[in-house]
Parts: sequence; C-alpha cells; structure tokens
Amino acid sequence: MKQDAAVFDNVEAGYGNVRILNGLSFRVAEGEVFGVIGPNGCGKTTMLNALSGMIRPSKGMISCFGKELNRLEAYERCRLGIGRTWQIPRPFAGMSVYENTLAAAVHGAGRKNLLRDRRSGRKESDTALKALEETGLAEKKDMPSGELTLLDRKRLEVARAMASEPRLLLLDEVAAGLTEAETTQITDLVAGLKEKHYTVIWIEHNIETMMKATDRLMCMSEGRNVLTGDPAEVMASETVERLYLGADDE
Ligand SMILES: Nc1ncnc2c1ncn2[C@@H]1O[C@H](COP(=O)(O)OP(=O)(O)O)[C@@H](O)[C@H]1O
Ligand SMILES: [Mg+2]
Repeated sequence: MKQDAAVFDNVEAGYGNVRILNGLSFRVAEGEVFGVIGPNGCGKTTMLNALSGMIRPSKGMISCFGKELNRLEAYERCRLGIGRTWQIPRPFAGMSVYENTLAAAVHGAGRKNLLRDRRSGRKESDTALKALEETGLAEKKDMPSGELTLLDRKRLEVARAMASEPRLLLLDEVAAGLTEAETTQITDLVAGLKEKHYTVIWIEHNIETMMKATDRLMCMSEGRNVLTGDPAEVMASETVERLYLGADDE
C-alpha cells in the first residue's frame, strides 16, 4: 500500500501571535499532484511554510512519508525529501543557471548524502545537471540567471527545488504572471514530474491549470480545508463559487 506523502492533522500555525492556519487537515497520497486554491491571504503559502519548516505548528501534527515533522528543522526536512519553490523567484542573479542549481544541490544534499555520493561516485554536479535536464534548462546552463525570461526563471525555481532530490515537491504559484502558452509549458513540466513518480503540492490561482493538471484539489479558506476532492467537482461546488465571488463583497 502506498504511504501518505504528507499529512496535516488539525494544524494551527502562524506568525508571532497571529494564527493563520486554523485546524488545517488534509492528506496527500504518494505520487499524486495535489492542487491547492483559495482566496488571497487564506494561508496557502503559510501551509507550505509549515510543511517546509519555516514556521512550526502550535497545535496539531504534520508528517511526511510516515515521519513526524513538527520538531525537525527546515534543513532536516529538505534532507527527508521536501523541496520547495518560492512565490517570488530569488536566484542569485550574478551566478549562472548551473551555479544556482549546483548551490541548491550542495546545500540540499547534506553530509549523509555526500558520503553516499562519494561512495557511488555520483557528484552534486550530476544532480544539478539532471535537475536542469528535467526542467528543460540544460541548454541555458551557462547563462547568467539575471538574463533569463520569466518562464525560464520559473523553471530555474523548479530546478533548484529538484536539485535537493526531493520526493515531495512544493510549488507556489510557479505559473503566476505567465502567458497561456507559457503556463502550458509549466503544466507539461509538472506532468512530466508526475510520470517520474514525484509527489507534488501545487498552489496556483489559474483554475483551468488546476483542473487540467491536478489529481485532487483542495480549496482553503481562513486557514482551513473547505473542500477537497476531484478537481472538477470542487470547482463546481457552490461553496467554492461563493468563496471566490464573495471575496470582493465582504
Ligand atoms: N511572514 C509573515 N509575517 C506575518 N504575517 C504574514 C507573514 N506571511 C504571511 N502573513 C499573513 O498571513 C496571511 C496568509 O498569508 P499567505 O499564507 O501568504 O496567503 P496565501 O498564500 O493564501 O495568499 C496573510 O494575512 C498574510 O498577511
Ligand atoms: Mg501565497
């Protein structure tokens, strides 16, 4: 039987005294592309922060591939196989595409993996190159990152996350700001990752993309899971429609 890749069980978390996640619960099965939508400010990025270890829950439990995460530091979670992108790409602009990815590979690999890699003769440079190939950036590896188009900067975000060799990949609005054609390319990239058996949690505002590219969809509101299920059913639900339409009138 397949493990759960990620579990949130009644999680409360926030910043300082401000609670953003209010009893958030959901499960992501191994190998699925799990989409997350919800009005601005409802806590989607905060959920990724809680999962990747930027913040800790004050209540509830978060686990990943059967291991409880609550007390683990961000770098330990990275080494457990959680890789993430940031809503605002922040590569080192002066470094090449390859150098940026290599930095992520070295940082993410950790001591244990380095020893393993030494023994198997595998290097971080191979991991970085593989990540660039998987994201379609191999030919641009020597370009300064600052010269990349927005689409390629988004790809680089994914490549940097991939370079830590994650099993669970967290994508935060990687398609935001892209044209329709570019969004299709990112969607194809994620579909390719699914084929390679990565598990993906993908936050995106573009409803069409979420309907097309995800296996299940969770709609969040005010730090809670309002509805999770088949993407088409979630989008057709009155609750979700009210959330999106009502967001401006309140
Ligand atoms: N670092 C932070 N410190 C304090 N408040 C924050 C921080 N990051 C986000 N918030 C607040 O948390 C709430 C949820 O934000 P976020 O999780 O980014 O929402 P979403 O990604 O769903 O748009 C917002 O009200 C936001 O202002
Ligand atoms: Mg966000």
